[in-house]
Amino acid sequence: MDFHSMILLFSCALFLLGSTFATQDTISANQAIKDGDTIVSHDQTYELGFFSPGKSKNRYVGIWYKKISYGTVVWVANRETPITDKSGMLKLSTDGNLLILSGGSTMIWSSNSTVSMRSNNPVVAVQLLDTGNLIVWDKSSTNGSVIWQSFDYPVNTILPGMKYGKNLVTGRHSSLTPWKSPDDPAPGMYHHWLDTNGYPQLFARQGPVLLSRFGPWNGLMFQGLPLENPNAIYFVEFVYNDKEIYFVYKMKTTVFQRITVMPDNTAVQLQWIDQIHDWAVFSSSGEKDKCGRFGLCGPYGSCSIDRYPPCKCMVGFRPRVPDEWDKANGSSGCERNRALSCGSGDGFMKLSGMIFPDTRRSEFNHSMTLEECEIVCRMNCSCTAYANLDIRNGGTGCLLWFGDLIDITEYDVKQDLYIKLAAAELADFQSSFTRKKRVLTVVLSTSSAVLLLFAVAYVCIKKNTSPHMNQRGNFYGLDKKNSSVQMEDLDDLPSFSIREISKATHNFNTNNKIGEGGFGPVYKGLLEDGREIAVKRLSETSQQGLDEFMNEIRTIAKLQHRNLVKLLGYCNNGNELILIYEYMINKSLDLILFDETRSMMLDWPHRFNIIHGMARGILYLHQDSRLQIIHRDLKAGNILLDADMNPKISDFGLARKFVGFDTTAMTKKVVGTYGYMPPEYALYGRFSTKSDVFSFGVLLLEIVSGKKNREFSHDDRNDNLLGHAWRLYTQGRSIELMSASLRGSCIASEVLRCLQVGLLCVQHHAEDRPTMLSVVLMLVSEGVLPQPKQPAFYSEESCSTKLESISSDEEEYMITLLYAR
Ligand SMILES: *[C@@H]1O[C@H](CO)[C@@H](O)[C@H](O)[C@H]1NC(C)=O
Ligand SMILES: *[C@@H]1O[C@H](CO)[C@@H](O)[C@H](O)[C@H]1NC(C)=O
Ligand SMILES: *[C@@H]1O[C@H](CO)[C@@H](O)[C@H](O)[C@H]1NC(C)=O
Ligand SMILES: *[C@@H]1O[C@H](CO)[C@@H](O)[C@H](O)[C@H]1NC(C)=O
Ligand SMILES: *[C@@H]1O[C@H](CO)[C@@H](O)[C@H](O)[C@H]1NC(C)=O
Repeated sequence: MDFHSMILLFSCALFLLGSTFATQDTISANQAIKDGDTIVSHDQTYELGFFSPGKSKNRYVGIWYKKISYGTVVWVANRETPITDKSGMLKLSTDGNLLILSGGSTMIWSSNSTVSMRSNNPVVAVQLLDTGNLIVWDKSSTNGSVIWQSFDYPVNTILPGMKYGKNLVTGRHSSLTPWKSPDDPAPGMYHHWLDTNGYPQLFARQGPVLLSRFGPWNGLMFQGLPLENPNAIYFVEFVYNDKEIYFVYKMKTTVFQRITVMPDNTAVQLQWIDQIHDWAVFSSSGEKDKCGRFGLCGPYGSCSIDRYPPCKCMVGFRPRVPDEWDKANGSSGCERNRALSCGSGDGFMKLSGMIFPDTRRSEFNHSMTLEECEIVCRMNCSCTAYANLDIRNGGTGCLLWFGDLIDITEYDVKQDLYIKLAAAELADFQSSFTRKKRVLTVVLSTSSAVLLLFAVAYVCIKKNTSPHMNQRGNFYGLDKKNSSVQMEDLDDLPSFSIREISKATHNFNTNNKIGEGGFGPVYKGLLEDGREIAVKRLSETSQQGLDEFMNEIRTIAKLQHRNLVKLLGYCNNGNELILIYEYMINKSLDLILFDETRSMMLDWPHRFNIIHGMARGILYLHQDSRLQIIHRDLKAGNILLDADMNPKISDFGLARKFVGFDTTAMTKKVVGTYGYMPPEYALYGRFSTKSDVFSFGVLLLEIVSGKKNREFSHDDRNDNLLGHAWRLYTQGRSIELMSASLRGSCIASEVLRCLQVGLLCVQHHAEDRPTMLSVVLMLVSEGVLPQPKQPAFYSEESCSTKLESISSDEEEYMITLLYAR
């Protein structure tokens, strides 16, 4: 089950609720809330009472949303001790203890909170706050004091304002445990908490087995956790003092968000989107990729999702059990090539682009400089690495590791790690590095200018486009054994036989062909079990590339979102790979949008839904934990529509292969489609999530105008669609861009908002363009939008001159190479 169906189940949980007869938010001592009664927070956001989750008939006391997402439960009191009938009652005792009684007298749950002895005349009350926090007050003192609060005992959900961590005074340590299932709020088998050993990190475990780790906190966020900070919607804070250690996130605007751990252990950050009446996934973190698993590569091994096998020893280390490593099992980790001398004979190697190793055995100091940090580490034999604690202000503080370094992942982290190595090791490394450089120089001086172009291009590619692996070439030059690689077989992606697929497509009959995608032809098929499928035959590749690609496909298959086309399976037919997708009855957006008659089927609400759905799908690809996918070829032909005209993005992740290592087989494949490519990609092959934002902007303008960017022409101007949209915008006439067929159905303010967002997305400079997260928010919020700057490819003229200058033969080859990664 994917998160969406789960979220839906949670949201649609059938409630056997009575009507609210009390509109108050407070009850006093000796008052009771009976099954069927509720209390409601002052601003009507939250409601507390008895409920039955999903298909269950059991009764639980919980808090759920009232105004939005009615019935979505955020807290449960008696999650392990349900009442089986409607005799339940929630009561506050005079000493401040919150009790659930069944059958009028049997206590089945208690908050175990009582007023301290000092308060000799307590006046207690329980109140449901607008934040969703249920608190028990003692109102006898002037300002009242909180005796107990539900925020201290989260179930599976963190709400804004909730402190998640440890109170060092009381010893209370909050944690999250998912529900067993949408029908049962009892604790599932996973456990999430903020670990306060060493420098704090977020952990998840299943029983005693550690599953995943995020952190440490780097001043802005937990390393590897896809929470964008700072941003316009919320902010995240981490507090560490002698009373408490916690992480809290707070909203800057009036939107509703929550972080919930789903029964399958995925933690999702969700935001309520009023326009669509649903929760949108902002980010999620599970273990969707292999490196997400704690300690996969053992001590001193580092993990990369871009590699198969994913583990490698860090420089200066070698596999501890080579036989296991040869079988692609790196869990036993690595050992030093040369022992440390424990004194002046050791030095440090700087590593970048790594999620820091586990910090449970670390020490830290906020005021020390990096130099002081190094000295301390040098002087203590068991210190193995050091780093700055905080990335802000150019890096401050000191973090020291003691003992083995474990759980290191190559990732786009802008924080350097310095690991201790024997001096001789460092010297070796230095000389091998210089030797490599010399070889490169020799090649260059004896080769033609074209070759030089190649080499430069190649170096640029390596350098520019995998920032999170910069220096990989330097530090991981030690592998020689990827020849004996065997496929992991951990997947649940079904494999189909070529016979099944041939039969389903009538032997790839041309009548079944429904399109020619960027990567090969697509056929419609009918499986024996009656399922309709779309079959994509990928252009041929070498076997070596295929294995690696299969590995990637398995990872991609785990990405699930309602706005992504679902991959149902694959068929490996010799050198050919065939992918099997769900079939979309309305085919691709371009076939409808750019067809004069069929475009009538898309009124404004449909188009807005398509724009919004696309944005959410792309956001999911960009923000999904660790495995950040840049689509690289977003266009109307890659947006498929289901029976209800909901958009589904196709071909995501495929670009990674086709612009991958295998340049020899694929040199002529340019990924990306003219008209949707941002200038930095078209001209320099540089891409980032902002390239997708650009393509999205073009798509958005196409959807509103019903015109293709590429084929757009305007009477006496040389504008393309973007230029035209910009000109109208500067003249305050944006609405004229809208397709005439929308006149009956449009909501002008929404159309104008979309157009402005579109223009923001197609701005010339990548750094000016918003992130996909901002795009989603801007589309649905009411706030004032920033003013866009002039778009890229403002007029056809400037565009074609730039592209012409690089279209001679050799250069074409170079550009192609540049497209590669
Ligand atoms: C209250 O205390 C009882 C007895 O120690 C314990 O079984 C129960 O789990 C506690 N309740 C809560 C909510 O902690
Ligand atoms: C009560 O709250 C007010 C305003 O927040 C504060 O000035 C005052 O010191 C508080 N009194 C006590 C006894 O805490
Ligand atoms: C990898 O090796 C370890 C022993 O170091 C073993 O316990 C584990 O089962 C192996 N994993 C696989 C997938 O073979
Ligand atoms: C941090 O380092 C500074 C300077 O070395 C030292 O004065 C201070 O006591 C240290 N703080 C802690 C908490 O160890
Ligand atoms: C090295 O640091 C560890 C951890 O702080 C400490 O326990 C040990 O005593 C130190 N050793 C020396 C020689 O200072």
